[in-house]
Amino acid sequence: MNQLNTNEGLAARRTESFSSCYASAFPCYVDKAKGALVWDVEGKEYIDFAGGIGGMNVGHSHPKVVAALKDQAERFTHTCLMVVPYASAVQLAEKICRAYPGEGPKAVAYVTSGAEAVENAVKIARRFTRRTGIVVMANGYHGRTMLTMAMTGRVMPFKAGFGPFAPEVYTIGSPYCYRCPIGKTYPACETACADLLGELFVKEVSAESVACLVMEPVLGEGGFIVPPKAYIQKIKATCEEHGILFVSDEIQAGLGRTGKMFAIEHFDVVPDLITTAKSLAAGMPIAAVVGKRNIMDSVHPGGVGGTYSGNALGCAAGLAVFDILESENLFSRSEVIGKKIRDRFEQFKEKYSLVGDVRGLGAMVAMELVTDRESKKPAADLAKDLTGRCREKGLLVLASGTYGNVIRTLSPLVITDEQLEQGLQILEEGLAEVNQ
Ligand SMILES: Cc1ncc(COP(=O)(O)O)c(C=O)c1O
Repeated sequence: MNQLNTNEGLAARRTESFSSCYASAFPCYVDKAKGALVWDVEGKEYIDFAGGIGGMNVGHSHPKVVAALKDQAERFTHTCLMVVPYASAVQLAEKICRAYPGEGPKAVAYVTSGAEAVENAVKIARRFTRRTGIVVMANGYHGRTMLTMAMTGRVMPFKAGFGPFAPEVYTIGSPYCYRCPIGKTYPACETACADLLGELFVKEVSAESVACLVMEPVLGEGGFIVPPKAYIQKIKATCEEHGILFVSDEIQAGLGRTGKMFAIEHFDVVPDLITTAKSLAAGMPIAAVVGKRNIMDSVHPGGVGGTYSGNALGCAAGLAVFDILESENLFSRSEVIGKKIRDRFEQFKEKYSLVGDVRGLGAMVAMELVTDRESKKPAADLAKDLTGRCREKGLLVLASGTYGNVIRTLSPLVITDEQLEQGLQILEEGLAEVNQ
């Protein structure tokens, strides 16, 4: 039998029991993690720029999260919130409601995963509006369930062979300024791509049959595409004009990642609904939809839920997360980290022709790799090569983007300046090697 304490041994055993449909980005197996550091089973240390794909804003094994989980596990782990409820679920809902940027009465519904939150936001929007249509952005990512696959704008690995997809999902070009869907240049374009929504209502679907528009305020898996503020404001205004609900999918961008509790706050629009998960409970599987009470309450009791929805361990961790975000000033820390990364990425762009674009919001920063700046041909193989080299040198960093050529940073916001610097140095070493 292969060993459990070597990466190779575990990989060999894994192939015996895991389906190949389930992939992991890195071949190392974690033994422990703390703050922004991860150690594998062989004792190798890594700086973590991957952060559990945005689930670890407060860092790994934060003492307050660990204490909350221990305490909760000793009292009880599961009664099912739909059967016997508990105080922590009420307290966490109060905190999420307070974080929702709109005025007036608000309400929360719990689920288990990000994709489920998106699915349920759509269900709620459909009940409220009595309409069926859903509008999404090209380059968007909303999950791997049947409905959210239909809402996701990337075929491999997310959609290939899994159709037919849910109907009534309509896609418009996204505000991807580096690869403008209408061939224009920002800001001279005056965010003309926002007019694609109006065109959709002429060519594809009547506005009166659309329940909601779902978009990520910063498109995460799509390659950290940051829409211009005017774009989101125009889209929101068009939605309002036609009675369409605006759903901000904050599953990756929320909970301090961009320097605000919810990324949509940067754009001065109030979404009707917000979906949240990932960093909500430091990686514990809990997710929620929050929004205006009259909209949330349009669904009959029991219409949203699930065995693990609002799981007790998730609620305990979630309460600790809200405490940590505030008490450790992680919102302003996000801005500081983001600026440091961005400045370095801009320098990389000066030095390495491979870097075609640098963009981001707060600590959600990315660089897009291209084979040459003229053609902007995506350099996906080089991005993969780079993340592999970084791993060998002790940095976990992920690629993303519709073309798989965007290097993104999702480090815990508790990362120290030294760790950040060390991570950026490794990234630069790797970049210099693959740029040749
Ligand atoms: C913006 C966004 N929405 C939805 C999801 C799906 O979340 P989950 O993987 O928890 O189902 C993700 C996951 O990466 C995401 O980034």
